[in-house]
Amino acid sequence: MKAFYQTSYKKADSVNYGELPDAVAGPNQLLVEVKFVSINPVDYKIRNGDLKFLVGSKFPKIVGSDFSGIVKETGPGVIGFKAGDRVYGVVPPFSGKPGSLAGMVSVNSKNARLIPEGISFEEAASLPVAALTALNGLRRCGVTAGSNLLINGATGGVGHFAVQIAKAVGAVVTATCSEANSELAKKLGADITIGYRKEDLAKSVNQFDMIFDAWGKMEHSDIRRLLKKGGTYASPLIMPTSFFSALFFRLAYGKKFTSSNMRSRPEDYAEIEKLFSERKLRPVIENRFPLEHADEAFDMTENGKPRGKVIVVV
Ligand SMILES: NC(=O)c1ccc[n+]([C@@H]2O[C@H](COP(=O)([O-])OP(=O)(O)OC[C@H]3O[C@@H](n4cnc5c(N)ncnc54)[C@H](OP(=O)(O)O)[C@@H]3O)[C@@H](O)[C@H]2O)c1
Repeated sequence: MKAFYQTSYKKADSVNYGELPDAVAGPNQLLVEVKFVSINPVDYKIRNGDLKFLVGSKFPKIVGSDFSGIVKETGPGVIGFKAGDRVYGVVPPFSGKPGSLAGMVSVNSKNARLIPEGISFEEAASLPVAALTALNGLRRCGVTAGSNLLINGATGGVGHFAVQIAKAVGAVVTATCSEANSELAKKLGADITIGYRKEDLAKSVNQFDMIFDAWGKMEHSDIRRLLKKGGTYASPLIMPTSFFSALFFRLAYGKKFTSSNMRSRPEDYAEIEKLFSERKLRPVIENRFPLEHADEAFDMTENGKPRGKVIVVV
């Protein structure tokens, strides 16, 4: 099968496009002919070797988490899928299994889902990691109708879904973004936009019930000032702060820190699909690259300031 793969963690070796042995459907797995992949920061962090303590150094390595495609075969024990089904889902990035940047991927059926009517292959591939992380982040914050919420980094992969989901819930959303993206943040539904630079945040006199930091690395001094007492700050980083800082924030200021990883239970997917069917959620996709130039998709995600999701067309 054709594949985009790397043979070491050296940058020069991360640009290989060619033939690798076909994926096969093992027990409880689907063999999927991949149509689209969306790139997430975790993918370039793996490509760059930043997460080798989690994913190991076995090569050749095919990176890629989100995918959409068509089931070619089902392995023993698979229930609920058949050849020809349109599916989407995630190859868990730390599973050590070959990822989705290839003509075919084998994926455990519990990590795949039928694509509902009305969602295209490209849209489906854009959703799993970013939209499910946004959904969980807002849940961790306890967002409900009328919540006064700050979303930091509101026009990136996670942030642009978070704005739409929060508005669908009925929250009042203040979005931070770069000046160039203020218009987009408003189009996504943000009630107020402010710049994310320190000097712009300093001008904000409002305090918020909760902060979902889709960017993940907001400064403690800004969190302390902008979050109301009793409020929650959530970040999609695995360790948004040290245990001791979080404890200090809670005891000294009555403010809670929490990490909000992606959660992918069937009911989470169902919620995203429902919002999509109600036209309350749409991906922003402005950058597409063919599989043979997947390295450009990585570079765009890492350095190019993309808006919404970056897509690889397989
Ligand atoms: N734990 C999990 O399960 C999980 C899942 C998904 C993502 N994540 C993590 O969440 C983070 C965001 O992911 P993503 O897919 O949304 O990335 P992304 O698409 O690259 O978006 C990052 C966003 O942050 C904004 N930003 C850049 N500098 C900023 C600053 N100083 N202050 C505030 N915002 C700033 C960017 O705005 P501009 O482009 O306008 O500069 C952009 O909107 C990454 O670290 C990723 O690894 C974790």
